[in-house]
Amino acid sequence: SKGTYDTFMLKEIDEQPAVMRKISSNYFDGKKINVDQKMLEDVASADRLYIVAAGTSYHAALVGKDIFENLADVPVDVELASEFGYHMPKLSKKPFFIFLSQSGETADSRQVLVKVNELGYHSLTMTNVANSTLSREATYTMELLAGPEIAVASTKAYTANIAVEAVLAKAVGEFKGVKAAKELDLQEQLALAANAIQTIVDEKDKFKDIADDYLTGKKDAFYIGRGIDYALSLEAALKLKEISYIHSEGFAAGELKHGTISLIEKDTPVFAYINDGIGAAHTRGNIQEVVARGAHVLVISNKKYAEKGDQVVVPEIDEMISPIVSVVPAQLIAYYASLARGNNVDQPRNLAKSVTVE
Ligand code: M6R
Repeated sequence: SKGTYDTFMLKEIDEQPAVMRKISSNYFDGKKINVDQKMLEDVASADRLYIVAAGTSYHAALVGKDIFENLADVPVDVELASEFGYHMPKLSKKPFFIFLSQSGETADSRQVLVKVNELGYHSLTMTNVANSTLSREATYTMELLAGPEIAVASTKAYTANIAVEAVLAKAVGEFKGVKAAKELDLQEQLALAANAIQTIVDEKDKFKDIADDYLTGKKDAFYIGRGIDYALSLEAALKLKEISYIHSEGFAAGELKHGTISLIEKDTPVFAYINDGIGAAHTRGNIQEVVARGAHVLVISNKKYAEKGDQVVVPEIDEMISPIVSVVPAQLIAYYASLARGNNVDQPRNLAKSVTVE
């Protein structure tokens, strides 16, 4: 039930701190990580991971690529389910497949899993629904533990999925003896993430004002960032477009000048993310480029990279998993933009919660 909330989406946004704590307490036993040992051996012996997903889960996979490459020291390909099944690239010698699916029922993902099973490869489904089709048909399952997600726009499943990817990557990395995995205190990071999200959701009015100020009467909006912030920008833009119906795009900040910047005119809303240390200075430069063309820019940075004048500053957590925190302002901006337009926030037009056709 929605309890005291008017919408499931806002309730689910608010549940994210509790979800982070639940993932931490369920997957950790003291310092020990509770995951299937056979699965660890399987993942650790793979020469490449293929993460397959759709929509928001695909965006969680893009974040996961960095996490697995760093912590588990293995190359990762991230694949759109709807493409991969029909245009399967030449696979590596020892592939392992990871399916990300909130519902566990997405037909596009399932058609890939069916092929993977036919080929005899092992797989893992990370899902919020334990006995779902993708969970039953994969070799292994890890639960997202986010609790039922009812709103069509996925919020807590995205943040949960990134956290669960980090759990697995750390477990695999420790198993393989990877230094970065041993050094990351993930329990501490998940606690920091929970607190950070709480500070953001405690300031909801701020995001209503931002939505009003930046998006009232607007047809287009852009999210930009580099590195981890690029992956995040794709999710932020999807959230905004699917419930507000404002045309929104996520771009790699450095790509703007290769075409997209021609769309920037006076008062075009541009939301710029600065959580990626390597990209930060260059993204600041790209912000200047769009400001010079009249864009109405909102900077969302974290404490470490914040500069005077940034409109939203979020608490800092480990960069690899930082979208867990920095996505929340985008979720709230999308929510209030949708509400202001009188849309059905929980059930946007033309969309279903789980897409069971290919
Ligand atoms: O249940 P799944 O995670 O497999 O669903 C994938 C997409 O259909 C889903 O994430 C969709 O993009 C959401 N509406 C995004 O908010």
